[in-house]
Amino acid sequence: MAKGNGTPLTDELYAYMLGHNPPLDPVQRMLVETTHTQLPLVAGKQVAEEQGPLLAFLVRLTGARRIVEIGTFTGLSALSMAQALPSDGTLLTCDVSEEWTEYARTAWAKAGVADRIELRIAPALRTLQDLPAEPHIDMAFIDADKDNYIAYWDELVPRMRPGGLLAVDNVFYHGDVTDPDATGLAAAIKDFNAHVRADDRVDSVMLAVADGLTLARRR
Ligand SMILES: C[S@@+](CC[C@H](N)C(=O)[O-])C[C@H]1O[C@@H](n2cnc3c(N)ncnc32)[C@H](O)[C@@H]1O
Repeated sequence: MAKGNGTPLTDELYAYMLGHNPPLDPVQRMLVETTHTQLPLVAGKQVAEEQGPLLAFLVRLTGARRIVEIGTFTGLSALSMAQALPSDGTLLTCDVSEEWTEYARTAWAKAGVADRIELRIAPALRTLQDLPAEPHIDMAFIDADKDNYIAYWDELVPRMRPGGLLAVDNVFYHGDVTDPDATGLAAAIKDFNAHVRADDRVDSVMLAVADGLTLARRR
């Protein structure tokens, strides 16, 4: 069976990889620990530890100044991206949970980036539909309710500047996307992945980062 040239990611190799990435800063570390101690049942929603530095890297690489995120949770991905923005950059992040995003607000204030981040508590689709229709977004990160991924994508793509970057998390859906009989959210992600592949408004690549990450660039 074709497996590409990938090296299986053992625990040792994962630790080695993290050890060769930028370390979490004290606020990021606090946020990871607080999320695990205070919200143990849902802590798995947080982006994987290597994704914060990756998102920050992508912000710097693209020179993004206007970012939109769907799915704030306790705020680690937003924190990582906001810290990489230039001082006049802004990040709009969307969630429906006051409880979970309270941790985010605390961390952003501690890190000194709260003034760059706007949090909107409302269904993200509504927030996106209220944004200006013209292309004005440099980077977007989709990491929320999987059955709305196609709707988020279709609101975001026309609003992306040419060359703008979309990053989408959980495109493997824990590996369930290879199940021909997938149902529910796994089927929703399969539909989303097919939707992206067929979309000639973007160039896209799917990567084996964490639970699968798609990167796409608006043509
Ligand atoms: C996987 S978590 C996001 C993790 C986050 N990016 C991080 O770095 O920790 C998904 C988030 O999407 C939010 N969410 C679910 N449905 C939503 C909706 N319709 N609109 C906005 N946010 C939603 C949840 O409340 C949850 O906080």
